[in-house]
Amino acid sequence: MTIVLGIESTAHTFGVGIASSDGKIFANVNDTYRPVSGGIHPREASEHHSKVAYKILKEALSISNFSIKDIDGIAVALGPGLGPCLRVGATLARFLSVSYNKPLVPVNHAVAHIEISRLDTGFKDPVIVYVAGGNTLITSFKDGRYRIFGETLDMPLGNCLDTFAREIGLSYPGVPKVEEIAKKGKKYIEMPYSVKGQDLSYSGLLTHALERLKEGKYSLEDICFSLVETAYSMLTEVSERALAFLNKNELTITGGLARSKILCMKLKEMAEDHGALFKAVSPSFAGDNGAMIAYTGALALNSGVTISLEESYVSPLWRMDEVDIPWRKD
Ligand code: FE2
Repeated sequence: MTIVLGIESTAHTFGVGIASSDGKIFANVNDTYRPVSGGIHPREASEHHSKVAYKILKEALSISNFSIKDIDGIAVALGPGLGPCLRVGATLARFLSVSYNKPLVPVNHAVAHIEISRLDTGFKDPVIVYVAGGNTLITSFKDGRYRIFGETLDMPLGNCLDTFAREIGLSYPGVPKVEEIAKKGKKYIEMPYSVKGQDLSYSGLLTHALERLKEGKYSLEDICFSLVETAYSMLTEVSERALAFLNKNELTITGGLARSKILCMKLKEMAEDHGALFKAVSPSFAGDNGAMIAYTGALALNSGVTISLEESYVSPLWRMDEVDIPWRKD
């Protein structure tokens, strides 16, 4: 059994988790930066991370009852994410690795969302819908890697709804608030449904929804209802094709939008139509968190994946399908 301390700092959350390769989570302590107004400002988020880092690290160790000597390795999410934020986690990880002579383990943030979802749901080989403020893609394991079977070509789904929320004066995170308003909508207003093969486009949908709002002809409730309905149906359509073509019998959702009851219901109904099981990752593991980096780091270290200090630069655009997954077999 390998025990790893993992550091998450790719976007608005700074987190430290401690987990073992056999799937025990010993600590998962996170602190999320909330902008007073507007979206995430990378520099402000990174300042938040620097401020809370020591406190979060100490708390994680104390909750786990481990001392750093008991830890086999230090994992860190090196990407994808915001450069200034990533550098806070990477700097702390390098410091711990050198000071305590522990191997440094690189973790791809998207792969970590997937692995925590597999652990939490107990699914062995699911199709995974990964949706958050910064990502929208459908993936599954094939030939040693998580391959992408559809993704957004422009704006992530979470960002589309968060931006709409901000434009109508709602604070971050906007998705649950937009959904609440959407539940009161009754009439569907035509919206651009942009599915291109297996890929999605959300920027036109956002523009269209904001324009309908400015016209003043439609109620906010109907616009939110139509926006949410269209955005989630597009994602459900490409997920359905992935599930059918890959012939898999498990579907999961991971990332912040896994907390959306409306989206989960759509995916569940679709999965059941295909005789597949559906489970969403638990809310505590849905958003960015340290535990997912620690657990994925433990799987990686167990398979011999480490990185030298010199090579441990951050990769803001690191794609998950570039990452070998030696802990899984086809
Ligand atoms: Fe994330």
